[in-house]
Amino acid sequence: MADRIRWGILSTGSIASTFVDDLRLLPDAVVTAVGSRTSAAAERFAAAHDIPRAHGSWQALVDDPEVDAIYVATPHTAHFDATMLSLAAGKATLTEKPFTLDVASSETLVQTARERGVFLMEAMWMRCIPAVRRMVDLVAGGAIGEPTAVHADFGMAGPWDGTHRLMSRALGGGALYDVGIYPVTFAHLFLGMPSSVQAWARMTPGGVDANTGILLGYDSGALAALTCGLVGDSARRATITGTTGRIEVPRDFFHPQAFTLWRGDSPSEVELPFEGAGYHFEAAEVHRCLREGLTESPLIPLAGTLDILTVLDAVRVKVGLDYSD
Ligand SMILES: NC(=O)c1ccc[n+]([C@@H]2O[C@H](COP(=O)([O-])OP(=O)(O)OC[C@H]3O[C@@H](n4cnc5c(N)ncnc54)[C@H](OP(=O)(O)O)[C@@H]3O)[C@@H](O)[C@H]2O)c1
Repeated sequence: MADRIRWGILSTGSIASTFVDDLRLLPDAVVTAVGSRTSAAAERFAAAHDIPRAHGSWQALVDDPEVDAIYVATPHTAHFDATMLSLAAGKATLTEKPFTLDVASSETLVQTARERGVFLMEAMWMRCIPAVRRMVDLVAGGAIGEPTAVHADFGMAGPWDGTHRLMSRALGGGALYDVGIYPVTFAHLFLGMPSSVQAWARMTPGGVDANTGILLGYDSGALAALTCGLVGDSARRATITGTTGRIEVPRDFFHPQAFTLWRGDSPSEVELPFEGAGYHFEAAEVHRCLREGLTESPLIPLAGTLDILTVLDAVRVKVGLDYSD
């Protein structure tokens, strides 16, 4: 492995831009190439971000010998094809959340990566944020006793026009897979897999979920009450409650720089500030894995990604969210 990991960026949208900005915080990262459906978009993005190589197709990007790792940042519906291309070319692949819109196709991605011995990880950046890592360690170490409940919500205010990917069923729109995946993943970090999934959603006329509530039950007796939506700018906070204390996470719970640990009536503030938007932590995890010769991240294991997609499948069916045609 070279001194610097050479990244190729697959697609030229909004998160691709933020990710490239954050990569500059890693001294051992360099963006060598970008690939797009069109040469014009690739060249525009390359010029804006000072990237030396611009490719007018995904295939040309994944075949570029100057690239070690591909970051897939298309709309959800294109993640499968883009990730398969990247894995087929033998490139380490970081694919945006959600991997796909059903667990079966995500299983195919995982199986393909494992068969080929190629690194694959979901870009669930929340898991790599230092404050989130600290919370997981604290809860696992018994800091709040036995966890009994997780509350989390993620709502965004529109309006988005009907052609925006969030509103488009054809592009995998809706709240659940875009923002609901965060509360669901957050609950999974502390409570594992639920044994019961209940859900309700108000759907848009175009057939995607706009305002969604999820209630998960666990064999331990714990519960998770989670909401997500595209109809209001919610508080975006989270709480993990345990038998002897709780953790309160302020806005935005999915990339916090601080939280409050309550034991009985006494609070303590935990602060873990960072520079940038926070996407460099997931990239650093990719670097670590590649340097250690790992094909899966122990921090964001593929089995965990499939667990989350299994829960999302169950919610999708309950609320009548159907991407099938
Ligand atoms: N981790 C996070 O915090 C975070 C935040 C936002 C989004 N995301 C995820 O990142 C993905 C992209 O979100 P975004 O907000 O960046 O979207 P976006 O701004 O709409 O950009 C997506 C890009 O994908 C390409 N594209 C557009 N339509 C396509 C299609 N039909 N098929 C294939 N490619 C298409 C376009 O690039 P080209 O024209 O170059 O092909 C477009 O610029 C989503 O899966 C989302 O869940 C993650």
